[in-house]
Amino acid sequence: MTDDSDIIAAARAAMARAYAPYSRFKVGAAVRGASGRLYAGCNVENAAYPQGWCAEASAIAAMVMAGETRIVEAAVMGGGDALCTPCGGCRQKLYEFAGDELPIHVCGPQGLRRTVTLGELLPLAFGPENLT
Ligand code: THU
Repeated sequence: MTDDSDIIAAARAAMARAYAPYSRFKVGAAVRGASGRLYAGCNVENAAYPQGWCAEASAIAAMVMAGETRIVEAAVMGGGDALCTPCGGCRQKLYEFAGDELPIHVCGPQGLRRTVTLGELLPLAFGPENLT
């Protein structure tokens, strides 16, 4: 798609790298750090099924490895008819590095389907501030 924004293009490119031989459900994700840099990741499944992990987790790991700890924008792209929103665990993983206002672009292969906030997906979240 030529009209993808940069973050959606990154999620799309990551989706193409997905390792999903078991579910056949490929997902790509991208997060923008406070620096403006984008970090992308895909889901990585495993023959021992519970050991697989989500695209969002891969993208967050890439961001942390680059030295960033603040997410200002996120995008997820998956197939299927339903919205590919981040799973419960990934909502919590995102919240570690962002707040309620984080925009998450939920995309399908045709592009953006809907933009939601992390606060909509994970209301009354428990985060680092709860430990202070
Ligand atoms: N998956 C993700 O990578 N991110 C999501 O937001 C939803 C689900 C992956 C996990 C698994 O590899 C496959 O999609 C099917 O659940």
